[in-house]
Amino acid sequence: MCGIVGYIGKGNVAEILLDSLQRLEYRGYDSAGLAIINQKNELVVKKDVGRISNLRNEIFQDFQSHSCTIGIAHTRWATHGGVTKANSHPHCDCKNKIALAHNGIIENYRVLKELLIEKGHVFQSETDTEVLVHLIEEVYKEKKGNLQFAVVEALKLVEGTYGIAVVCTDEPYKIVGARNGSPLIVGIGEGEMFLASDVNAIMPYTKNVVYIEDREIIVIQAEKDDQLKTYDLNYERVSKSVSVIDWDVDAISKGKYETFMLKEIFEQPDSVSTALRGRVVLSEGSVKLGGLNMTEVQVRQINKIIITACGTSWHAGIIGKYLIERFAEIPVEIDYASEFRYRNPIIQEGNVVVVISQSGETADTLEALREAKRKGAKIIGITNVIGSTIARESDGGIYLHAGPEIGVASTKAFTNQVVSLALLAIYIARLKNMPLYEGEKLLKELISIPDKIAEVLNHAEAIKEIAVKYAKVSNFLYLGRGFNYPAALEGALKLKEISYVHAEGYPAAEMKHGPIALIDENMPVVFIAPKDQLYEKIVSNIREVHARNGKIIAVTNGDAANINEFIEDYILVPQTIEEFSPIINVVPLQLLAYYIAREKGLDVDKPRNLAKSVTVE
Ligand code: G6P
Repeated sequence: MCGIVGYIGKGNVAEILLDSLQRLEYRGYDSAGLAIINQKNELVVKKDVGRISNLRNEIFQDFQSHSCTIGIAHTRWATHGGVTKANSHPHCDCKNKIALAHNGIIENYRVLKELLIEKGHVFQSETDTEVLVHLIEEVYKEKKGNLQFAVVEALKLVEGTYGIAVVCTDEPYKIVGARNGSPLIVGIGEGEMFLASDVNAIMPYTKNVVYIEDREIIVIQAEKDDQLKTYDLNYERVSKSVSVIDWDVDAISKGKYETFMLKEIFEQPDSVSTALRGRVVLSEGSVKLGGLNMTEVQVRQINKIIITACGTSWHAGIIGKYLIERFAEIPVEIDYASEFRYRNPIIQEGNVVVVISQSGETADTLEALREAKRKGAKIIGITNVIGSTIARESDGGIYLHAGPEIGVASTKAFTNQVVSLALLAIYIARLKNMPLYEGEKLLKELISIPDKIAEVLNHAEAIKEIAVKYAKVSNFLYLGRGFNYPAALEGALKLKEISYVHAEGYPAAEMKHGPIALIDENMPVVFIAPKDQLYEKIVSNIREVHARNGKIIAVTNGDAANINEFIEDYILVPQTIEEFSPIINVVPLQLLAYYIAREKGLDVDKPRNLAKSVTVE
């Protein structure tokens, strides 16, 4: 994972690198570092463990007075080697002339390291990355004055994934970058150039972006006519086009909220509305999905759908399965992306693979997509980040339009994923078997969801009180049935991610086959119990927990009198149809996890050990 940035220009290099790096912190935040070429043409490298703010103080004393023009920086999510200053990037060659920041994994680093040690190279860290900078040094010795050549030839010896930025004091006016499996973009500014893992990093500086593809090498410089040159590994020039990003800088600031996560939870009425905008055609009881790139005949011929994703996106995928099976009557399989590619998924004529990813960069999901493509499946990508690798490699897709999601724990992307899957299900259903009145009824309900989410958000203070009451508990159980079983999984995941409390999500009826043994007076159980066809059954499950002294928190719109005597706390949610109820019911679960984590004094935007975009397998 990790985030990398590079900058060339007349701005304050240290300030711009740190600022851009801070916006990539969600990719990893174990440690951070930067390498700048100073006016004396020396490489100055600063690193520190912990957050970027730690690095900031140290750096400003050194760089404020210099007018440097070039540097690279890195924020780390440790894979090879512990969280130490020495293992932080950028890494340097033996002579401190070449510096490299890397996102990815060099799989054959052990063999290469031994060879390099035999040749006299001295290593400072335990990382896989350091091998690459010494390899570049080795080639550079032979062909001095050509950093690009040295990078390409070194990369030919490497197995694994990389997004890299390299600078060299012998060529202090250029950054060489390369990508294979880890994202990389170039930002083109006015007399300044940027390189970064993704567009968030550079949004305040430029909206003109070039997406770099796998096995491409770039050379960026600030000179007007020669700003960006892109090559393949055979040194052939590759022509690139510039995309203009339309996200607003405000979208990546916290505004009036104390954290990004809280802001993103509260944005959900708006983000869901945006996902629906222009896509619902009530008069036809149908949906417009311009990006699917499938003819109506092809859609009608779909005979099986396989959904694959990771984490929160996988939970949305389970709801997607239920929605498509119920509305469109097509069999749907759902699989973790990391499992999908290592079994033998059977893909046949007429099968479609739906790949869900907020970031569009998750390595497991991307590799699952590629495996499905190799087997001949048509791919529908459901992503949030426009121009992300998954969006580009899919045959067609649906953008979430949730706006940038910065909090590591996904919230508004989840609700928009479920909404997008509901739109997809209705779209397919209407082309097949669903009558007009049914489509119209469902869509009317769907467009009422934003207001219902807003209603839940009005109860935030009451949910906070419940959270405070349970903040010291160390285990939680989340139970739901049918469409709300995935909501239970997602509620439990939110709590684990940000409050470090052990929580399990389970189908409520499965509880009696194991988890019931855990229940005693110390075990709070969150029941997602909307008044639907399974309500009476879930009331029975509530009674079973109550009989064993479990503390029950009910998220429900059911008849309070029916369950009042069994429950400890009550979160009231508005009524909707069963199929869309998880979109609403997940919101109080997000808030519950949020306030528990805040009560424990934790950093919810950057929970320990996690990263938002996991670009390693
Ligand atoms: C990481 C994040 C999760 C996220 C998962 C999938 O593990 O910490 O919050 O759900 O990746 O991310 P994606 O961007 O593919 O949806």
